[in-house]
Amino acid sequence: MWDLVLNIDEIRENLKQVIDPEIGLNIVELGMVKNVSINKGHVSITIALTVRGCPLANTIEKDIGRVVGKMDGVEDVKLEMTSMSKQELDSLGARLQEMRSKQKTPGKAAGMSAGIDKMERKGIEKIIAVMSGKGGVGKSFVTSMLAIELRRQGYSVGILDADITGPSIAKIFGLSGKPFADENGVVPKETRSGIKIISMNLLLDTPDTPVIWRGPIINGVIRQLFNDVNWGDLHYMLVDLPPGTGDAPLTVFQSLPVDAAVVVSTPQDLSMLIVRKSINMAKQMNIPIAGIFENMSYLTCPHCSQRIYMFEESGIEKVARDLKVNFLGRLPFDPKANRMADSGRIEDYENGEVQQFARLLRDEMGKLSGVTATPIAWKKAAQS
Ligand SMILES: Nc1ncnc2c1ncn2[C@@H]1O[C@H](COP(=O)(O)OP(=O)(O)OP(=O)(O)O)[C@@H](O)[C@H]1O
Ligand SMILES: [Mg+2]
Ligand SMILES: [Zn+2]
Repeated sequence: MWDLVLNIDEIRENLKQVIDPEIGLNIVELGMVKNVSINKGHVSITIALTVRGCPLANTIEKDIGRVVGKMDGVEDVKLEMTSMSKQELDSLGARLQEMRSKQKTPGKAAGMSAGIDKMERKGIEKIIAVMSGKGGVGKSFVTSMLAIELRRQGYSVGILDADITGPSIAKIFGLSGKPFADENGVVPKETRSGIKIISMNLLLDTPDTPVIWRGPIINGVIRQLFNDVNWGDLHYMLVDLPPGTGDAPLTVFQSLPVDAAVVVSTPQDLSMLIVRKSINMAKQMNIPIAGIFENMSYLTCPHCSQRIYMFEESGIEKVARDLKVNFLGRLPFDPKANRMADSGRIEDYENGEVQQFARLLRDEMGKLSGVTATPIAWKKAAQS
């Protein structure tokens, strides 16, 4: 009898009232409703989330219970949460982009509507984005070193790996395994020295498969990595961006309360055109530039410790002068550092130049707001 009253199409129709809070579209339209079945008033629904372990799942779950639960003939609703496959995410991304291009008002459209207002900074005092003009200059490496150094100086530090297409931060710190989520959000992984880390890589079912996501999805994912993760109180959050000026840097600058950007470059970038492009993008979006840091600047001779510069005069200091931004320092190319980063033991690596860099950056951040974070304020450090 039950099944005469209830039918699947009607349930699907009603599920359109359930809106994904992050993307702002209903879950049917988003292709998140995988399966609906009825057995004598007992309804089973399978939902595929865009990000696994997402605490927004609770909201979606409650809404489904509310909407379907009040339908005539429904005894109870059983929900199963899964996550979308790479293909599903790709096609969702494509569809969102299409919807967006059809709508005339940019920003108001699907997927973007949620991404325009800056999110609250919660307990995070300073947010620093690390960017670069091109790939492979050691952005993730410098981000990690900087985090380690700030941690050594007593600050509480987190790294949000926003390079969601090729995340390497987890690997540099030798972290693996999925973070779990509780009612306060996803709990970041912690490194040996206590740096909190969230990397998309850690949340994926198949961390070794490269993920190619399109604009609106990148936007949603980055917002979730910031918002749905329980970062707790941090003195510094470092955001490792993918190279260039694409969707991810755009989202980070648009929707995270970023205090400053650091640009990493190598001395080979002689034309400096791409570096300028990055800096201009940040400037256009009113993100203060803390400065440029030069990586792989020189080699130290293992015999006499003399510095060997591959380029006579680094173009970067000059660009920094031209663009009136700080030059924050340089790191040598050190094969030992490379070995340690590749084997997840980066926290054992020390370099005096990074100490200096961290201090300079701290000072810059202090100048920006008139206050400098003091390490004593960190609760967790006091406890342990
Ligand atoms: N100063 C350094 N000395 C030795 N090796 C380095 C140094 N900086 C970076 N590397 C190594 O160079 C490689 C590229 O660095 P990294 O992944 O940090 O670059 P990236 O700019 O983040 O790249 P992507 O654009 O892919 O995100 C890594 O293997 C890293 O260990
Ligand atoms: Mg990187
Ligand atoms: Zn020598």
